[in-house]
Amino acid sequence: MSRPFLLTLDGPAGVGKSTTARALAASLGLACLDTGAMFRILALALGRNGDFPRGREMAEALAGFSFALRGTGAATILLCNGRPAGEEIRTEEAGAMASRLGLIPEVRSFLKTVQRNLGAVFPLVAEGRDMGTAIFPAAPCKLFLDARPEVRALRRQRQLREMGLEEEFDDLLRRIRERDEEDRNRPLAPLRPAPDAVLVDTSDLNPEEVLALCVRAARRAGRPG
Ligand code: DC
Repeated sequence: MSRPFLLTLDGPAGVGKSTTARALAASLGLACLDTGAMFRILALALGRNGDFPRGREMAEALAGFSFALRGTGAATILLCNGRPAGEEIRTEEAGAMASRLGLIPEVRSFLKTVQRNLGAVFPLVAEGRDMGTAIFPAAPCKLFLDARPEVRALRRQRQLREMGLEEEFDDLLRRIRERDEEDRNRPLAPLRPAPDAVLVDTSDLNPEEVLALCVRAARRAGRPG
């Protein structure tokens, strides 16, 4: 049996990955795997006073989590232990915790297995930091989105505002730069494009233009839609 189609979509915080991934999944008839949400869910569940369990304690804690996907396109739902994640995973604080959790080898190894198992069953847009490099290096279509930090901070500010949360632009910009630094320079699965990824700078593009470029790349890789 042939493997389900896989499209990987990587890029830094605030680049518009989630929006693009959902629109792409909808237009190509794929499910959407938001791997940042997996790190965020685990970070909120396992974080205690700003720290995480380590070693065997972490491995045992991780064994209590299972993930599943329901539906496709923008309506894809990620379930953790049978329940969809709540809005609380979308805060800046949860993002920063997720970034720190991503430094722990047991967590990366656990999620790698979970993500590969999902990719073996579902045709997917897999969205994250290391989808094209560490998790699905043989995916037929790999995209890497980037944008200037100032543009990403402004987008994040608008996104949070839509959720009723107000954040200062300068604070968001500082945190985006910090998160870039952490995500790009960590020793395990750092954020970088796979050698064969299509690079898309979204700084001066609107969401429709980004989507059109991504759909074109997917068609070239053999996915009609
Ligand atoms: O995409 P996001 O902002 O929801 O991700 C939150 C953090 O999770 C990100 O800063 C680093 C971590 N992460 C990761 O290490 N690997 C992934 N594939 C996805 C997210």
